[in-house]
Amino acid sequence: MKQQLEAIRAAAIAAMEGASNAEDLEALRVQYLGKKGELTAVLKQMGKLSAEERPVIGQLANEVRAKLEAAIESRASELASKAMAMRLMSETVDVTIPGAAQKLGKQHPMYQVLDEIKNIFIGLGFEVIEDREVELAEYNFTKLNVEEGHPAREWSDTFYFTEDSGILLRTQTSPMQIHAMESRPLPIRMIAPGRVYRKDEVDATHSPMFHQIEGMAIDKGITMADLKGTLNTVVRSLYGEDTVTRFRPHHFPFTEPSCEMDIQCYKCHGAGCPTCKGEGWIEVLGAGMIHPKVLEGCGIDSSVYSGWAFGFGLERLALGQYKISDLRLIFENDVRFLEQF
Ligand code: PHE
Repeated sequence: MKQQLEAIRAAAIAAMEGASNAEDLEALRVQYLGKKGELTAVLKQMGKLSAEERPVIGQLANEVRAKLEAAIESRASELASKAMAMRLMSETVDVTIPGAAQKLGKQHPMYQVLDEIKNIFIGLGFEVIEDREVELAEYNFTKLNVEEGHPAREWSDTFYFTEDSGILLRTQTSPMQIHAMESRPLPIRMIAPGRVYRKDEVDATHSPMFHQIEGMAIDKGITMADLKGTLNTVVRSLYGEDTVTRFRPHHFPFTEPSCEMDIQCYKCHGAGCPTCKGEGWIEVLGAGMIHPKVLEGCGIDSSVYSGWAFGFGLERLALGQYKISDLRLIFENDVRFLEQF
């Protein structure tokens, strides 16, 4: 039996050292150490041995088993590091090959202006609200004191979904005033930028879709002075500290009094030039004190609270800021155009 064990040891170790991959090695493990393996078969005959021989052979058998296990382990790690070395060789990356350049996009000039405006208002403590473009006529018109029969409500002016549905694409961002008043606790300071839609033919200054920014502040004791102060602060941080503004009386159904704000032409400083069409002034927005009827319609006590609102077109502002001559360029998204800003 002793010879049998020695023979197994010699043969197994030679075979294991010669194994060329993990599967062969596993097969050898089964062949020698498995339940039906050669070493196990020898051990099964231990019963036939005398009491003196048994511990001697038992010890030898344990030694052989330990040797074989150690041989398997060391061969396995040799094979593993060889396999890793092969993989590293085959997966070598040539870091000197030039990479494929990623083409980077550019933020749209109008959204650059919008971000600038948002940042200014956030700095003044205003909240930015973005919301629905599909509106009820009730919010787009009625609650803004634009009664049935007003020309702005005409089919020829406004995109309605179906006849008499009262659902339309909003023609202005002003319905956001109503949504804010109905959903937020007072005081409110918010701006609401977004798309608006009107039935206009496309030309250098018109588009059936464009962007507006609505602004609103409601609190106790708000006056026209707050409106002018806020708007002056905003245009000065947009166009420079020396920007001059003027407020002209105007009419909007949902503000009283109402006004339009002009800025003195940044090109000719009021002398008159092609940029301001000889006027010296450029009209930028409509604004006013929120009509008491509108406040009351939203459940706000107009004897305690007052507020102002303004609205302006974003495209026009971007055109002015970047000296772009045709509105259509803003919407075409031609990369050659966008890359210039
Ligand atoms: N919504 C008006 C427009 O589209 C602008 C405006 C907003 C005027 C808020 C006054 C107050 O012309």
